[in-house]
Amino acid sequence: MEHHCCRKPLLWLVKVLLANQIKSLKKSVARLTNVSKFYGKGSLQVKALDDLNLEVNQGDYLAVMGASGSGKSTAMNILGCLDRPTHGAYELNGNAVEKLDDDSLADIRNKELGFVFQQFHLLQEVSALENVMLPMIYACVPSVERINRAEEALDRVGLGNRMNNMPNQLSGGQQQRVAIARAIINQPSLLLADEPTGALDSKTTEDVLNLFDQLHHQGITIVLVTHEDNVAQRAKKIARFKDGKVIEVSKN
Ligand SMILES: Nc1ncnc2c1ncn2[C@@H]1O[C@H](COP(=O)(O)OP(=O)(O)O)[C@@H](O)[C@H]1O
Ligand SMILES: [Mg+2]
Repeated sequence: MEHHCCRKPLLWLVKVLLANQIKSLKKSVARLTNVSKFYGKGSLQVKALDDLNLEVNQGDYLAVMGASGSGKSTAMNILGCLDRPTHGAYELNGNAVEKLDDDSLADIRNKELGFVFQQFHLLQEVSALENVMLPMIYACVPSVERINRAEEALDRVGLGNRMNNMPNQLSGGQQQRVAIARAIINQPSLLLADEPTGALDSKTTEDVLNLFDQLHHQGITIVLVTHEDNVAQRAKKIARFKDGKVIEVSKN
């Protein structure tokens, strides 16, 4: 009897330790396995990605660095389901993306992925609010909810007082914040940003990076391409690309 009582706290301790261990095992959001991407044919063929492996876990804030032409944008386009690998596997939230047809890919792009580009890519003919509402139209969100959520997202990026402005009435930094609001509006499991501060001055870069910090603390998983050290330093991990491969992943 005594023996049994002594073991109970021990069992409890084992349970707590196991629970913590499980919590620290992060869920994989995106996994590229032996991914290659070739452009062109024959002697003109370019190997943009060459047997690349990369894993992104839930809650990660990963910076991707590497020389121009090392395959960063190609990898981002594949992660964002904008392009398909020539060889290899891409698993997004446990789904084998390479096996999906184009309609399912478009659906995943809309529901699970957010994209931010260097050049913002906002629709010029419509307001900030309407730009942010757009992905919800594709996702068939009812119109009242669309407006409420878009307003809330613009508030969240500090543009509550600029909602009805057209893109050309906003500064570069403000336009990028609209693009970020649009990218997170469907609560994507992965936010991809390809040189998001490449067209911004240093003060505006700082604002946008502060916003990424906030999103990271709110639990959004981020992959950000940059060639600037001070930008990469804000991420939690850095993956270095060379000749279409990941040559190093380090913690910040
Ligand atoms: N659509 C394309 N057609 C042909 N070659 C391409 C295409 N996109 C990228 N490449 C080539 O693939 C390589 C990797 O490009 P990219 O992924 O854009 O690199 P990074 O973003 O690191 O600068 C480069 O040599 C580039 O010229
Ligand atoms: Mg690029």
